[in-house]
Parts: sequence; structure tokens; C-alpha cells
Amino acid sequence: MKKILDLISARMEEAFEACGYEKRFAKVVLSNRPDLCEYQCNGAMAAAKAYKKKPIDIAGQVTAWLDEEETKEDARMFSDINAVMPGFINIRLDGSFLASYLNGMGQEEKLGLEETGRGETVIVDYGGANVAKPLHVGHLRSAVIGESIRRMGNFLGYRMIGDVHLGDWGLQMGLIIEELRDRQPGLVYFDENFEGEYPKEPPFTIGELEDIYPCASAKSKADDSFRERAQTATFKLQNGYKPYTAIWKHIMAVSLEDLKKNYGNLDVHFDLWKGESDAEPYIPWLIQDLQDKGLARESQGALVVDISRETDSKELPPCIVRKSDGAALYATSDLGTILEREKLYQPAKYIYITDKRQELHFIQVFRVAKKAGYVKEDTPMIHIGFGTMNGKDGKPFKTRDGGVMRLEQLIGDIEEAVYRRILENREVSQGEEAAVSGAFVPEREGAVSGSAVPERGGTVSGSVMSEREARATARLVGLAALKYGDLSNQAAKDYVFDLERFSSFTGNTGPYILYTIVRIKSILNNYERAGGQGEGARILSPFGDTEKELMLKLTRYNEVMENAFGEAAPHKLCQYIYELANAFNGFYRDNKILAEEDKKQQAGWIRLITLTKDVLATCIRVLGFDAPDRM
Ligand code: ARG
Repeated sequence: MKKILDLISARMEEAFEACGYEKRFAKVVLSNRPDLCEYQCNGAMAAAKAYKKKPIDIAGQVTAWLDEEETKEDARMFSDINAVMPGFINIRLDGSFLASYLNGMGQEEKLGLEETGRGETVIVDYGGANVAKPLHVGHLRSAVIGESIRRMGNFLGYRMIGDVHLGDWGLQMGLIIEELRDRQPGLVYFDENFEGEYPKEPPFTIGELEDIYPCASAKSKADDSFRERAQTATFKLQNGYKPYTAIWKHIMAVSLEDLKKNYGNLDVHFDLWKGESDAEPYIPWLIQDLQDKGLARESQGALVVDISRETDSKELPPCIVRKSDGAALYATSDLGTILEREKLYQPAKYIYITDKRQELHFIQVFRVAKKAGYVKEDTPMIHIGFGTMNGKDGKPFKTRDGGVMRLEQLIGDIEEAVYRRILENREVSQGEEAAVSGAFVPEREGAVSGSAVPERGGTVSGSVMSEREARATARLVGLAALKYGDLSNQAAKDYVFDLERFSSFTGNTGPYILYTIVRIKSILNNYERAGGQGEGARILSPFGDTEKELMLKLTRYNEVMENAFGEAAPHKLCQYIYELANAFNGFYRDNKILAEEDKKQQAGWIRLITLTKDVLATCIRVLGFDAPDRM
């Protein structure tokens, strides 16, 4: 379906042209004064300069033409169109035009979203966990943001290839090997004369592995000789030394199983489980090619590629592709990975999601890739650098005793917080008349953004939530709290992880969005149970302001989704569903759907809130979480 903004713009272009002005002046935007109008066109001001006329005269001419045209047609688009000083054109949409747009959305598989992706391949590089180190909160943002971008893209018809791009080839491998030698010197991997097959069983469990790495890392800081041993071991591994390759495979297998479980718990998924090690085979060719092309030069024993441009506001350092000791670096491995991605997938676009402190690294890598011609000049390569997740003290989030908070624990904590809220609500609802039991009754005072008070006798009926259901619900809601808490912030900004706020069922939170969906589901259930037959009904022209507000919000869905993906900005989708949820709750406060006596009106509302639920559910699915049936 065409976006509503495009429909309005097309109409406005027609009007400008009919009045003798170029259509480029006819741009329509969402109103920034919702009290005055819904959409507006400010083009008369610019046109006035070009045509040497007064803006208000142009605006007046255009609106007069539109007024005239609209009376000719049986299908109107505008209910109000006014020229106001100095030359604004203020627009309000016609109710039946809105209704028919929404009825159209309801009939389309993707609710009126056009698949703009057309199968184009996009690589999304996110997750980026380091093998053998436990996932910690620093990895959370990359996983959560990346997952939502991958899902959005797929939904829009792109062929998204999500790659976890593990750190599986660096010094941590040598550290683990040497620590393992100190702990179990008798292992065959350390016997230089061993010639048999290496054992299939790993020499450690995940628990041991997680203990080995931090020990080794601490040791390497205190003990230079240990560090040197680890460097040598890393070097030998990277040059194919068999016993270490065998240990590496064990580390990979044990660690991957754990990582898959952890990402699975976050409902984060990858198409590729590749890593830095996969770039290895491309590196000798890469280094040679950069030299052959005259792009790489020696600098203090290292090999570097200059990337600075005259247009840069500050001088950017060259990209080091080989250290003086011959070792490859992070940038080298990213370039090798690009060669592989070009060979295997020919992506039309690259998106990388990491901490924003890696910004320079990606500028360097992207520029080298383009300079050397590995990636076409016009292929977008985007780095989304995100800010830090801080604690309430404004410092990077830590455990209570100051350690690095592990992701598993973080998820556990938020689930627990949500679980407590569910129990509180369960107790409250048990004290209520039977009709509201089973559903939580969140804000007694109608505090959902100042709007919602559950309809008495109209909420979910049935049993009180069992312990098991409460736990399962807490999982879903907890995940939504965590993900929405992250995604609703502009990625580049730091944010404060606030357990209480994120898990609250009111305000701009994940649980509030879920609650709104659950609430609609409950109204729909009750409608059906009362014998309501909304099949084939159509959404009607709105009566009240809050109803129209809800309808206007719904029409924006396809535009918002497209923009959020185009700008790689999931927070825009979050903002939208928050506004949509508020609009629904405002509408529902003003209209008692289940008590409505006009059956046609009631059925129309049922269609309207069904569409609202579908839009909300679609958006959260794309953001990476789901709603329970009740809360
Ligand atoms: N493993 C890296 C880290 O922990 C992130 C990898 C990001 N992806 C990439 N292609 N460099 O910082």
C-alpha cells in the first residue's frame, strides 16, 4: 500500500501544478502543531520566492483549488484544508478516507507494508562475543540492536544475513592454552612426541573454561613470561600448529554451545556463526594485494594503509594491517572477512553494530575496503556505534560488588522484578470481583499514561494465574522490559539501566506495550464470548478526537517501519508503538466498546482495535519480543 503521506503529497502536487507551480514545492509533512492540524505543507513560502508572489496568495490559491476538487469527488481526502498566515497550508484528513485506508491495511498480509527490500542482501554483523569469555552486559546492546535490525530488514523483504562474528582468534586463545598447560601439564596436547589421534572429549567443561580465562588474563598482567608464552602459543595456533588447533577446536565447541544457549535465551538468532578465524585464509592474499596495488607502506616495521582524506576535519591515522612482528590485527581480520563476504554473498549493504569506541576502526576498515576496490564505492557500509549501558550511578553497569555483570544474571534479575509485579497484581486481582481475576489490574488510579482504567467486568475472566504461568509470563515480559529498555534509546546515547523503571507496567516501557496488547486481546475475547460477530465488519469514520487520533497513528505504521530500518533506528519504532499504545488507551478511556449498543458501531470498533493489536504485535515481533496472552 502507498504510504498515507505519499497519497497526501501526490494530491498536493496535483494542486500545485494545477495552480501553475512546480510540484517540488508541494511537500507535505506531519504537523508539528497537532492542535491546529494533522498534516501541513509549507511549500508556499519557498514557492513565493521563486514566483515572486506572497506566500499566503499561493497557499490560498492551492487550497481553493483543492476545496473545489474535493466537492466534485465522492471520495474526499481532506475534511479541512486552510491557508494561514504567512502561507502555511493546514490539513485535516477526512474520516471516511482514514477508515478506508485502515480497512485496506487490515486486508493486507503485512498490514499495508510494501516490501522495499526486493531480496537485496544485507550483512548485519552483531553479537561479536569473544569465545571462552562469558557473555556480559557489554554484549547485550549489540545483540539486541542487531537482532531488531535483522528482523526489520527481513520483514521489509531484504535478505538479511546476520553474522555473530565471534572473537575466536586472538590472544585469549594463547592465554587459555598456557593456563591449561599449567593446570594439566600431562595432557597429550603438550607432549611434543605425541603422534596419535587427539581425544574427542574436551579437556574442560564450560564451567572450567570460564574459570580458566579470567585466571589466565590476570596472570598475564602480573607475569611477563606467562604473557610471552601465551603470545607464542597464539602465534603457533595461528600458524596451524596441530596440538593447539586441537585445543582450539575444543574451546570452540564448548564455548559455542554455551553462547548459543545464551543468545537463544535472549531470543537473538544468527544466520552465520562465523568468526575472526574464518578470515585467516584470506589474509596472505590481502596483504600481498594491498602491497601490489601500492596502497600499503612500511612504517616503523609495520605495514600500514593511509586512509586520511583532505576533506577530513581532523587527520585520521593510517590503518595498520600487519604489526612489526608479522602478526595480523583486528583490522586485518575485518578486511579478510569482507573479502569472504564479497566472495560468498555479494552484499548490497553492510551494517556493523558495536560499541561506539570502535568508530575509528570501522572508518579505517571501510576506507581500505573501498580504496582497494574490495567493496564497490557506492555500497553502503554502516557502523552503528552504541553508547554505554550505565548503572544508576552513571558509571558503566556493574554488579553490586563491582564486578562485570553477566548477561545470564541480568536476565534473571529483570525476570524476577517482573515476576514480583505479576504476583502483586495477582494478589490485587484476587481481592476483586471474579470478573477481573486472572488478569492483572495494573493501575488502580488509571495511571497508564494518565489514561487507562480497565473496563469493569470487561477484563479477562477465568482462573487466577498459576505459579507456572506467572513464571513463563515473567520470562516474556522480562525480555520485553530488557529489550525495549535498550531499543527505545537512540543507539549512540548512553543510557541508565533502571530495573524498576524498565519493568514497570506503566510509562514508556516494554511491559506497558505488552499490557496494551494483552488488554486488547482481553476485550476481543470478551466480545466473542458475549456472542459478538464482528466478521466482515468495517472500520467506520471516527466520532471523537481520541478515536481519530488512534486512526491517524495507525496509518503511519508502514512509513515508520520503513524509516526505522532505513535509518537503522529501532528507537523510532519504539517511539511509534508507545504513541500508538497511548492513543489506544486514550480511545478506550472514551469509548466503552463492550457496552456499546449500536452493533455496527461496536463491530467497527472491534475491527479498529484488532488492527491496533496486529500493528503493535507486528512491531514488537520485529523489535525482538512477544506478548503473553495475559499478564
Ligand atoms: N569481538 C569484538 C569485540 O568484542 C566485536 C566484533 C565486532 N564485529 C566486527 N566485524 N569487528 O569488541
